[in-house]
Amino acid sequence: MNAVTELQTRALEQVAAADDLQQLDELRVRYLGKKGEVTAQLKSLGSMDPEQRKSYGQQVNAVRDALNQAINQRRKALEAAALEQKLLSERVDVTLPGRGEHRGGLHPVTMAMERAVGIFTRLGFEVATGPEVEDDHYNFESLNFPPHHPARAMHDTFYFGDGRLLRTHTSPVQIRVMEKSDPPYRIIAPGKVFRSDSDQTHTPMFHQVEGLLVGRNVSMADLKGVLHTFVNAFFERSLEVRFRPSYFPFTEPSAEVDIGWEKGDGSEPGWLEILGCGMVHPNVLHACGVDPEEFTGYAFGMGVERLAMLRYGVTDLRQFFENDLEFLRQFH
Ligand code: FA5
Ligand code: MG
Repeated sequence: MNAVTELQTRALEQVAAADDLQQLDELRVRYLGKKGEVTAQLKSLGSMDPEQRKSYGQQVNAVRDALNQAINQRRKALEAAALEQKLLSERVDVTLPGRGEHRGGLHPVTMAMERAVGIFTRLGFEVATGPEVEDDHYNFESLNFPPHHPARAMHDTFYFGDGRLLRTHTSPVQIRVMEKSDPPYRIIAPGKVFRSDSDQTHTPMFHQVEGLLVGRNVSMADLKGVLHTFVNAFFERSLEVRFRPSYFPFTEPSAEVDIGWEKGDGSEPGWLEILGCGMVHPNVLHACGVDPEEFTGYAFGMGVERLAMLRYGVTDLRQFFENDLEFLRQFH
């Protein structure tokens, strides 16, 4: 009897003193495992006489249960302590400064394009598109550029050598729209165009937004009205605007619109041309199967990079295509 009491006292003391989970498990094996001390006592019951076995058996079972309970309690305590330790050592200091994530943003040319498209769609224009690779027919011929006409030379065209070319303006979309359906038309066509050209206000690839409105009794006054509305909505500030007579084979009369701007090099303020426009030439309507006696219309083609330069105060158009992040991040 004393031996069992001694065993219990010793085992419980050791369990209480165990200070990690591995030590605790070793104690469990030593006392309660297959070859453990308590297990050995239970096995010895078989050789006892029934009277003795009953009371001794009860006592050893009580020791086993007490030990089991003590080990489980100690394990919980050790696990809780380990967790507490982990939480303390891995603490998050919410007062530290953040890591400064950079959010991406739209390119200023995309913003200007979406802005222009938004204004015209609110005025009732629908968006139309056409291919960037065109041929002489769509880019020139159907727009009333006769072969060898000097106006072709102004376009600095990239040719593929097989009759195809990179469109130099979005005006071919006018033809594609008029060929496909009957008037009236009220569309805008945003897209990329290409010319072999590069300086402060020109790049070899740039964007235009074409506009075409054809109906009955459409006049030059309607064209001026819509362009004034656009310029006011686009820039949201009053700028000097100049409506200047010009020439395009596919419009008659024709005009260009300039905006007053500071070149940023200390020189006198000048004019920056933002668009070409005019009344659709009768030859163009006729070639698309539209009767010029019944229908008249206007068209315009604006340079999106030029609009972006003026809106955002950029003085060199080429900066839009250098992909300098310091530059681009200013627009987010
Ligand atoms: C045209 O391209 C005509 N298709 C516009 C038009 C459409 C006239 C409909 C009448 C009716 P122009 O070559 O002027 O015209 O170009 C139009 C605009 O594109 C210019 O006013 C300018 O803002 C812009 N632009 C022209 N060349 C470049 C270039 N290399 N880089 C950036 N912008 C340019
Ligand atoms: Mg021009």
